Amino acid sequence: MQRISLINIAHQHISESLKSGDIAIDATLGNGHDALYLKSLVGATGLVFGFDIQLAAIAATQSNNEDATELTLIHASHALMAENIPVQHHGHINAIMFNLGYLPGGDKSIITQTDTTLCALNAATALLAADGIMTIMAYPGHAGGDLETAQIEHWCEHLNNSHFSYQIIYSTVTSATAPRLFILRKTL
Ligand SMILES: C[S@@+](CC[C@H](N)C(=O)[O-])C[C@H]1O[C@@H](n2cnc3c(N)ncnc32)[C@H](O)[C@@H]1O
Repeated sequence: MQRISLINIAHQHISESLKSGDIAIDATLGNGHDALYLKSLVGATGLVFGFDIQLAAIAATQSNNEDATELTLIHASHALMAENIPVQHHGHINAIMFNLGYLPGGDKSIITQTDTTLCALNAATALLAADGIMTIMAYPGHAGGDLETAQIEHWCEHLNNSHFSYQIIYSTVTSATAPRLFILRKTL
């Protein structure tokens, strides 16, 4: 899966919200690029928690980040986010990133699954701070990714719009299989 410019757009939006000392979650560590970016924004006084179900992703994150010791790497499904984030941080997470699909360079048969993704999104909305931001990169072009993306769009449409706003940004083409970025903000 190509790291396309939508990722840069996600980073740009996050950089406008996340500041030194804040708390962030990378819900899909993969090779650790997003976690590293989050850490660069929150600095030494901030916290970054990262989740992945694959030990290969935890290892890749550690080898790609000289400062991986400053990240809290959790080998668990993001569906168990609430259980793994210390309770004192619930409702105080300033940014959460999801980059769905498979581990680039890894086993392409291990992909995010609609049910656990939706479970994680629900948990994430509760963990977010009042002015928090969440980004979700979705890839409908691979098997399973189409249903997952459609379900995320449906989930966004049914969010309480007095507490959340969202937008969808497409890659260069607006087609059924085009990757897309969901940006969600908690407004209460
Ligand atoms: C596209 S990669 C993430 C890219 C990553 N954010 C980066 O910066 O390199 C997707 C990752 O999601 C992970 N994943 C799949 N299901 C998961 C789950 N239920 N919980 C957490 N991670 C999961 C995969 O193992 C894979 O490493």
